[in-house]
Parts: sequence; structure tokens; C-alpha cells
Amino acid sequence: MGRLVICDHPLIQHKVTIIRDKTTNTKHFRELVDEVAMLMGYELTRDLPLEEVTVETPVSKAAGKTIAGRMVGLIPILRAGLGMVDGVLQLLPSAKVGHVGMYRDEETLQPVEYYVSLPTDVTERELIVIDPMLATGGSANAAISLLKKRGCRPTKLMCLIAAPEGVKAVQEAHPDVDIYLAALDEKLNEQGYIVPGLGDAGDRLYGTK
Ligand code: URA
Repeated sequence: MGRLVICDHPLIQHKVTIIRDKTTNTKHFRELVDEVAMLMGYELTRDLPLEEVTVETPVSKAAGKTIAGRMVGLIPILRAGLGMVDGVLQLLPSAKVGHVGMYRDEETLQPVEYYVSLPTDVTERELIVIDPMLATGGSANAAISLLKKRGCRPTKLMCLIAAPEGVKAVQEAHPDVDIYLAALDEKLNEQGYIVPGLGDAGDRLYGTK
């Protein structure tokens, strides 16, 4: 079973509370999502391998450690996933970014991919799939499956808010993927919205309805 990591640092909780507030405007919402993504990046990068190095301080030699370099790729699910990319890139500036577009078929209610664009060396990278609202888990599961079918290694799923239903669905379908959240909410409502959630993440990020 993959790990469920709830990134509940006080700064993240503070910002997520303002993000949830329906009176928070688009500009502020976007800035806060970006900041939370950057703060979550600390947890997401906790397992980066280090290598031992020696540097000369003005006083003597010092043994230290630097990041050994791990090839990472970020895969936001369009469109709301885009809102969390820049925050993570602040910590992982060399990461490459692929995009997966999904919509829900009105009749079958199944996610359908309409756009896939991946870095050329994607199979050599450890992939972080980004889907801010983990509701039923349908889109995240479909994106992770399509990446695996193409020989890729999606190891982490990064979300802002999840419903227990979505967490369960991903853990069952992809037990090899760790899930990182800023908040785990109560449930889904009949319309598929996370309760209490924040509404439609894409609409709130981009000012659409
Ligand atoms: N997608 C959203 O943007 N919000 C939800 O609450 C559920 C899915």
C-alpha cells in the first residue's frame, strides 16, 4: 500500500483555509495554491538521495552533502493541475513537465484522455502526478495507468484536497504510488464535489464558471 502523507504544516493549513474561503479572489487563490505547492514540495522531496562531498570553508575542510540528482518529471492533469506546477518547480527547477488532459464522458462517467504530451526522456524519470482535487480518483487513476502503460514510473500523486473515496480508489488501483495531500476532507456530495472542499479548482484558479 502506498503511503498517505498529509502535509499539515501550520503554514499549509493557514493557506488552505484561505484558499477554501469563497470570498478569496482569483489572484489571491492562484498565489496561495502556488505557495502551498511549494511548501508541499518539502515533503515531496524528502527522499531525494544525497551524496557526500567536501568543500573548503574559509577555516578548514568540511564534509557535507548535496543532492545526488534524481531525474524528476511533473505531470499535471489539465487544467487545475497547472496551478501547482510552478510552486514545485521552485524547488525542483530541473524537473521536466508533461501534461495529461482528461474529461469525464457524460454517459459512461469514465475519464477520457484528450491530450497527452510527455518529456522525451519520461521513462527515465520518477514522475509526480499533480491533481489538486482528488474526488472519485477517476482522473488520477486513469492518468497513472496511462503513464504506466507507456513504461513510465509514476511514484507520487500530489493533491491539494482529497475525499476519502478518492484516496481509497487510488490506493486500491495503484498501491505503488504515494499520495501527498494538504487536507483530507469528509466526503463527496452527489455532484462529485469534495465537501467542504473549495468548489471547482479550475474555475477558481482561472476565474471561469
Ligand atoms: N474537482 C474540483 O475542482 N472540485 C471538487 O470538489 C471535485 C473535483
